[in-house]
Amino acid sequence: MAHISFDSSALTKFVHDNELSEIQPLVTAADKELREGTGAGNDFRGFLDLPVAYDKDEFARIKAAAKKVQGNSEVFVAIGIGGSYLGAQAAIDFLNPNFYNQQANRSVPEVYFAGNSISGSYLHDLVQMIGDRDFSINVISKSGTTTEPSIAFRVLKAKLIAKYGAAGAKERIFATTDKAKGALKTEADAEGYEEFVVPDDIGGRFSVLSAVGLLPIAVAGGDIDQLMQGAADARSEYTNPDVTKNEAYRYAALRNILYRKGFTTELLENYEPNLRLFGEWWKQLMGESEGKDQKGIYPSSANFSTDLHSLGQYIQEGLRNLFETVVKIDDAPNDVTIPDDDKNLDGLGYLAGKSMNYVNDKAYHGVVLAHTDGGVPVMTVNVPKQDAYSLGYTIYFFEIAVAISGYLNGINPFNQPGVEAYKKNMFALLGRQGYEELTKELTARLNK
Ligand code: PA5
Repeated sequence: MAHISFDSSALTKFVHDNELSEIQPLVTAADKELREGTGAGNDFRGFLDLPVAYDKDEFARIKAAAKKVQGNSEVFVAIGIGGSYLGAQAAIDFLNPNFYNQQANRSVPEVYFAGNSISGSYLHDLVQMIGDRDFSINVISKSGTTTEPSIAFRVLKAKLIAKYGAAGAKERIFATTDKAKGALKTEADAEGYEEFVVPDDIGGRFSVLSAVGLLPIAVAGGDIDQLMQGAADARSEYTNPDVTKNEAYRYAALRNILYRKGFTTELLENYEPNLRLFGEWWKQLMGESEGKDQKGIYPSSANFSTDLHSLGQYIQEGLRNLFETVVKIDDAPNDVTIPDDDKNLDGLGYLAGKSMNYVNDKAYHGVVLAHTDGGVPVMTVNVPKQDAYSLGYTIYFFEIAVAISGYLNGINPFNQPGVEAYKKNMFALLGRQGYEELTKELTARLNK
C-alpha cells in the first residue's frame, strides 16, 4: 500500500546539507530517550505501540457499539474537549465527503460535537437541531471532571431521559474515560453505561487511535481496521534513528534547525477544506507538547487557497519567522472538470477541460515557489489518498515527530501543566468548593 512521503526539497535555501548530519547525534539521543523511556514524561509513551498493542476485545466492542448506534440513531453526539474531540472530528472530516451530515440516503447517523466550548447558544442550537429525532451520545473525558463536557453531558443526558426514560437513556450513553477514577467513571459504573477506556499511558492529544477517537470515527462509518493498520505500518517504518532514512525524524530535525534560526512559527497547511480540523488537531498536538519553559515553535494553521486571500500577504512579506508544512493529498477523492463556454466572457477559456484538482496542484507549486522566494521555508507531507490507512499513517508520523522534536528542544513533550491555570481561576470565580482562598484573591484583583 502506498504510504505518505515527506518532501523537504524546497529547503535548500534555508538549511545546508551539513546541518542535518550535525544534528544527528542529538536526534539519536532523543530516539534513545523515547525508546528506552529515559526521557521526561516517560510514562506517557503508550502512543508508540498503541497501533499494535491496543485492547482487541475493546476494539470489537467499539465496532459493536458503532453498529448499534448506526441502527438506532439518526444523530450521534460526541461530547469532549481538546484531545477528547479534536482527533475524532479531524478524522471524521478527513474521511467523509464535505457536507456529510447533509447527504441524502445516509447509512450512518449525522455526527455532531458538543462540550468543546461553554457557549450556551451552541448547545441550545444543537438541542434544537436534534429535535425529536433518535440520538445517542458518547461522553469522552479522560479526567472525567472537565467542566465543558460535563455541562454538555448533563444537558444532553436530560434530553435522553426525557425522550426514552432512565432505562432507555442508559442504552444510548457511551462513556469513554479513565479505567478507575474520576466523576465520569463513578457515574458510568453507578448507572451502567457501556464504558471504554482512555489508557493511562496515553495523553489526550495522543489519544485519537484509542477508544477516544475510534468510537466516533466508527459510528461515522470510518474503517478503523485500516486506520490502525496505517498507524501500525508507520510504527514499523519510523524506527531507524538515522534522519536520512526516517522521514518523521527528518521532519523533527528540520523543524529544530529552522527554530534555531528564528523560524518560530509553523503553519500547517492544506488544500482541501475537509482537512481544516486536521490542522486543529495538529495544533493541539504540537502546541501542548512543545510550548513549555518559555520556548517552543508556535503552531498555527492555514487553509489554502482560501487563506491565500487573507493571510497570503503576511506570509509572503510579513515578519520572517514563519515556516510552512503542507499536508498535501496526492489523489483527492473527487473532482470537477471546468466546462467549455464558447463565449468565454469570464476569460477562463484557458482552463476549459482541465480538472479543478489539476488547478489546485498548480496553485500548490506556485505557492511553494513564491513563499520560498519570499523567505518562508516550506516542507510537504504527501498523503497518497484521503482514506483511513493514510490517515492512520499520517497521525503516527506527526505523533512520533513531536516526541522527538520535544526532546530535541529539551522539554517534556508529554505533560501540559499550563492547561490547568485557567481552570483553577474559573472554578474559583464560579465558587466551586475547595477554591475559597483563590476566590477571594481573584475577586479582589478583579475589583481593583
Ligand atoms: O491534552 C490534554 O490533556 C487536554 O487538552 C485534554 O484533552 C482536555 O483538557 C480534555 O481533558 P479530559 O479528557 O480530561 O476531559
